[in-house]
Amino acid sequence: MQIGGKTKVCGLIGNPVEHTLSPLIHNHLAKAMGEDLVYVPFLVENQNVEAAVKGAYALSITGLNVTVPHKSAVIPYLKELDPLAEKIGAVNTLVRTEGGYKGYNTDMSGLLRAMKSEGIQIEGKETLLLGAGGASRAVAFMLGTEGAKKVYLLNRTIDRALAVAKEVNEAVGREVIIPMSLSEYKSLPGQKYLCIQGTSVGLYPDCDKAVIEEPDFYEMVDVAVDLIYKPADTRFMTLCREAGAKAYNGLKMLLYQGVIAYELWNRVQVDESLCQEIYGKMKEAVKV
Ligand code: ATR
Repeated sequence: MQIGGKTKVCGLIGNPVEHTLSPLIHNHLAKAMGEDLVYVPFLVENQNVEAAVKGAYALSITGLNVTVPHKSAVIPYLKELDPLAEKIGAVNTLVRTEGGYKGYNTDMSGLLRAMKSEGIQIEGKETLLLGAGGASRAVAFMLGTEGAKKVYLLNRTIDRALAVAKEVNEAVGREVIIPMSLSEYKSLPGQKYLCIQGTSVGLYPDCDKAVIEEPDFYEMVDVAVDLIYKPADTRFMTLCREAGAKAYNGLKMLLYQGVIAYELWNRVQVDESLCQEIYGKMKEAVKV
């Protein structure tokens, strides 16, 4: 591309940022959509988050993605916060507005769009959610907000599950999240559930692990999403498939969180065919 005086700059702040797929997503989108925009990763140390957000604004940077470990740390330095991002308490996209950045959480709108694209329904569904860390907490908010009937939140550390349930149930205004320890799935009614895997177990290079190994757990699943995308087929997904369930990884969530950020920065709508083209490139890039 030709970088000139009018080229818009967007980027990612995080630590580390070396392995990010976001430049692939955004630079491909910009090229395909004829937008004079370049996207670059910026390594930001923990003590420099305020300087990075204010400095980016001073440099007229159009928009930023925010990744681990800065998703909550950026919030005090924003002009405005989207209501869902405020509830979740984590921001992954900053959009330039008059006087400062507005923070959004496109991880969750990205997961929602990814699930819709696979025909997975949330409203009225009984759901199993594995994990109560930062990622699962955001998913719990999303499932509660999108009208899941019940979300059985299973976590190794029950106190963390209790804390997430309390917080989400209060914010959503109904007792939708039911906290449990991992082995308590045995007490659930024997029906088929939507299951979301939000723990870090099974993440590359620990590819041979799943947070629950017992085959009878997987008999309860009819459709599953693992937030992990590396490896492309996690042990959790394999166990789901062996029990006859459909299973998807987190790569489409990553794609759509980027697409939605791009749409916010450029006030455009990205075609589904272009999303699929980029998805193909992402699949190539994460092969292990
Ligand atoms: P993230 O922000 O990616 O969600 P996190 O906040 O560290 O990361 O959360 C990691 C999640 O994976 C937690 O639910 C954690 O369970 P605990 O709350 O009990 O720590 C879960 N997890 C990580 N390693 C695990 C393991 N070996 N067995 C079971 N759960 C595990």
